[in-house]
Amino acid sequence: MTHVPTRRTVLLTTGAAALAAGCGEYGSGGGSDSGSSAAAGQELARTDEIPVGGGRIFAAEKVVVTQPEQGEFKAFSAICTHQGCTVDTVSEGTIGCPCHGSRFRITDGSVARPPATRPLPEKEITVEGDRISLA
Ligand code: FES
Repeated sequence: MTHVPTRRTVLLTTGAAALAAGCGEYGSGGGSDSGSSAAAGQELARTDEIPVGGGRIFAAEKVVVTQPEQGEFKAFSAICTHQGCTVDTVSEGTIGCPCHGSRFRITDGSVARPPATRPLPEKEITVEGDRISLA
């Protein structure tokens, strides 16, 4: 049992991150024993699965994880602040929403293209070795 103290919490509060996230659980009524909604400690990906200068969307967890620069990981809500669609692309340094074309920067979630006016709220993740988990 070796617990390596390489735990690093990525938490950047851009100010508006407090909006959010209280009760967004979607109960499926089905009762699977390993719930699929986002939960603290839930592993999302390995660090090498997140492209440098890009990111990856975890639709089930409603989280986007980005790596603006080598070794720098960030996470944001995947729910567009315009009207609540789930973002679906990460390209050219931005995260895109399919509904009305809003784009958000992978560096800080800020709006790169309206109609959204508010940034994607930042999410807390933990990078432990090569594992990225929800904090
Ligand atoms: S809901 Fe995302 S751009 Fe409108």
